[in-house]
Amino acid sequence: MNASAMTEAFAIEILHAAATEAAIPALAEILRDCVANGASVGFMDWNTAADYERFWRDIAAGVTSGQIILFAARNADGVVGTAQLHLIGKPNQPHRAEIAKVLVHSSARRQGIGEALMRRAEATAREKGRDLLVLDTDEHGAARRLYHRLGWTELGTIPRFALMPDGADCGSTFFYKSLR
Ligand SMILES: CC(C)(COP(=O)(O)OP(=O)(O)OC[C@H]1O[C@@H](n2cnc3c(N)ncnc32)[C@H](O)[C@@H]1OP(=O)(O)O)[C@@H](O)C(=O)NCCC(=O)NCCS
Repeated sequence: MNASAMTEAFAIEILHAAATEAAIPALAEILRDCVANGASVGFMDWNTAADYERFWRDIAAGVTSGQIILFAARNADGVVGTAQLHLIGKPNQPHRAEIAKVLVHSSARRQGIGEALMRRAEATAREKGRDLLVLDTDEHGAARRLYHRLGWTELGTIPRFALMPDGADCGSTFFYKSLR
């Protein structure tokens, strides 16, 4: 094994339209796994595989239209992580983008994949001329520490913004990062 293979057990890639379609089963499994492990990421514990696949088909449409840049983390098992960069289309916000659905399968966490996805999303935003990024996350999740570690500014938490998969209340914590 060469040195880079030893240090990098995964790679981050941008999924274009055809690759997104091909990855839908893996992406749906990541979303199912995150919800099953209690993440508040838009779905409830009663959602089905069909719901997750429908979600990713909508994202694929955004990829095709150019509004969404979709990232995937791939290791020896296949696609195990993902993140999205939404390019805001409003004429008065040409400099802004939103990061969404940073998800790593529970079998692949704590290896630096979440951080690598975020760093790639930020670098891509810069390349696209987007130098103000925003995101929000579940107030209790591990993602909050990740965003602090990467230099994001926490604005505050709106209580009861969403529900946990089991129906409990969940606050959403809002962050921004200026890349200027
Ligand atoms: C948040 C999430 C994306 C982080 O993914 P991840 O791949 O585990 O992230 P990282 O590996 O970069 O960092 C996670 C932790 O592992 C640690 N870590 C990173 N590499 C490591 C290694 N090689 N060995 C041991 N620990 C390591 C990090 O320091 C970090 O520690 P912390 O939790 O104490 O802050 C993941 O937990 C997840 O998918 N959660 C559910 C979905 C969710 O809530 N997403 C956010 C929606 S906005």
